[in-house]
Amino acid sequence: MKRLGVLLSGRGSNFAAIADNIVQGRLTGCQIAVVISNKADAAGLVAARERELKALAIEARGRKRAEHDAEIIAALKEHQVDLVILAGYMRLLSPEFVQAFPERILNIHPSLLPAFPGLDAQEQAFNYGVQVAGCTVHFVDEELDHGVIVLQKAFPVHEGDDSQALAERILEQEHIAYSEAIGRVLSGEYRVVGRRYVRNAK
Ligand code: GRF
Repeated sequence: MKRLGVLLSGRGSNFAAIADNIVQGRLTGCQIAVVISNKADAAGLVAARERELKALAIEARGRKRAEHDAEIIAALKEHQVDLVILAGYMRLLSPEFVQAFPERILNIHPSLLPAFPGLDAQEQAFNYGVQVAGCTVHFVDEELDHGVIVLQKAFPVHEGDDSQALAERILEQEHIAYSEAIGRVLSGEYRVVGRRYVRNAK
């Protein structure tokens, strides 16, 4: 049974979707070992406790990144985490963090990367006038929203969409995509060739 460590900062809807998919048997072979937030008041922590999962607040405020990251790394190691899942974790990871879990940290981003990295990607995409939108699950490397892509979901923007409607449809796809990508990575049936995620032949 592989052990997931989820990092979040807010709402936690991606975390909840992953937890539900595990409970409902749509994502198998893994369990959530720990949920960690850098904000003590994150709704995602409440959702984790409601599910009787181990939930920790490790506050970042007023602390150096390296020191805060070291504490999170220690908590993830203590809980014997195999794969780190960033689910709306609104902090950049230090190089030491990335190196502590090589190709073992996933992030989800609400655009088709490399388009619209950074904050408010859904709004950036809508304002740009894209006709196809989507989300990306990728390995985390030392650059923002940059690592090897594991999975993307793309779909058309409707003419009647406003920014809010588009953001909601992106989030719906995120909730499907993240568990699918975790399943892919945990299967181990892939290799990374340069920037390419390549599934092994069956
Ligand atoms: C999602 O849009 C995700 O793509 C981005 O942060 C948001 C987190 O939402 N990285 P939630 O906390 O999972 O609801």
